[in-house]
Amino acid sequence: VAFSPDTLRKVESILSHYPEDQKKSALIPVLQIAQEEFGGSLNVDIMDYVASLLNITPIEVYEVATFYSQFYLDPVGKYVIEVCQTGPCAICGGEDVLHYLEQKLKIKVGETTEDKLFTLKAVECLGACGSAPVMQVNTEFYEYLNLDKIDDILETLRKESALPKPEKQTWKERLS
Ligand code: FES
Repeated sequence: VAFSPDTLRKVESILSHYPEDQKKSALIPVLQIAQEEFGGSLNVDIMDYVASLLNITPIEVYEVATFYSQFYLDPVGKYVIEVCQTGPCAICGGEDVLHYLEQKLKIKVGETTEDKLFTLKAVECLGACGSAPVMQVNTEFYEYLNLDKIDDILETLRKESALPKPEKQTWKERLS
């Protein structure tokens, strides 16, 4: 397991902001990069690799990776749908949202669709309680959900997934 040269440069640039004995402070952003680079989830080999880069013990990496719900230790679909089930969202229909998604995607909470497009998760407060019910799909938030809105979101994601992957551009190309 190893980052591509481009990714490694990015990681080294992040690490350069920390003193040699404080590299652990960069653990979360480096794990986020690792998760993206290695197909959307982390495994023991990836976490060991991250530990070696940050010069910390593997157990320090496992502790963080298992604590935060943003890190996945099992393979997930292209889109991870996390539906809030905490108080305010629960009162405003969070459970209905979850059941509707189970029905639409034909999977149970914790499962991934056969086409590997969607993984469904029930999570605790996403920090947007004022716009309940709420769900997060990868890095996007969807608020004030209702069943029509969910249909639209799934349709948009399915269409988006069928589009060719955009070429990765360098910063120089983006600015020119
Ligand atoms: Fe759902 Fe806070 S309770 S976002």
